[in-house]
Amino acid sequence: MPVIVSTPGRVNLIGDHTDYTQGLVLPMILDVVTTITGDFTDDRVWHLVSDDEPLPVTLSLPIDDPARIEPRWGRYVAGVLHELEKTGVSLRGFSGRVSTTIPIGSGLSSSAALEIAVARVATIDRPMPETVLAQLCRRAEHVASGVPCGIMDQLCIAAGQPGHATLIDCRDLTIEHVSIPSAITVDVEFIAPRTLAGSEYADRVAETSAVERIIGPLRDASLESLTAIADETLRRRARHVISENQRVLDFVAALRRANWTEAGRLMTESHWSLRHDFETSNATMDAAVERTLRRPGVLGARMTGGGFGGCVVALRSVE
Ligand code: GLA
Repeated sequence: MPVIVSTPGRVNLIGDHTDYTQGLVLPMILDVVTTITGDFTDDRVWHLVSDDEPLPVTLSLPIDDPARIEPRWGRYVAGVLHELEKTGVSLRGFSGRVSTTIPIGSGLSSSAALEIAVARVATIDRPMPETVLAQLCRRAEHVASGVPCGIMDQLCIAAGQPGHATLIDCRDLTIEHVSIPSAITVDVEFIAPRTLAGSEYADRVAETSAVERIIGPLRDASLESLTAIADETLRRRARHVISENQRVLDFVAALRRANWTEAGRLMTESHWSLRHDFETSNATMDAAVERTLRRPGVLGARMTGGGFGGCVVALRSVE
């Protein structure tokens, strides 16, 4: 019987660069999807063609080193299969096709969607809990892209529900589905292509580790602890993470009180924190946020995701 698995892209409403220090995030799944169709085979070979890539991927199991697979998009597939094999899952061969409506390189997590789709296909007979799947795919992403990402994208894609944002506590991986009321809508606009590989993303991960060596876990830190950080740059990095965790909580509370103005204000504040304190924005993204904020009904806007390009997400009143 042919297999069909679809996984969505995601956008982050608020809570960026908080996941890899066990903080809070509030992403939501989108209605763009990656789909894998195909059939299991009797050999131990995965063969995938992609509508968006010129070269197919052929992988013989077991996979030795996913980071050396060519073409490069095969590294995400290989990374997932490699991680599954490490957990003792016995894999069958598969031959199929990948297609996607998630714009690639736009910061809407096309790679995490591919990872979760591959994992879902490979475990179709014995599904795994979403948190296990997400952690495994996060490790695959590290190997495939070299980017030391957090858990947000994979877990949101694995567990998100339509019409809801996914409040994730990245410390214990608990999830709360927060309904998006019909009085507001979420707009996502692609601004500039970006890749996190080779960007300052890994530097930010290292900087937050350096901060934690001084003041302990950022998740437990308060703004008062900033005075213990002598280095001005590290102090700003810490201020972003500590204030962003609070903004996620405040944003959810504002949604629940139907205070859309406050929710929008928090989103815009998050952007300026990313701009000034975390320095993951740039002039193009700042200009796009300013432009979005001038549109009718827009309550707040920010760059979303890893940064250095990608998309702007905005909250708009539909009344
Ligand atoms: C990328 C990473 C996520 C997260 C965001 C920033 O999307 O994959 O883990 O760190 O950047 O919030």
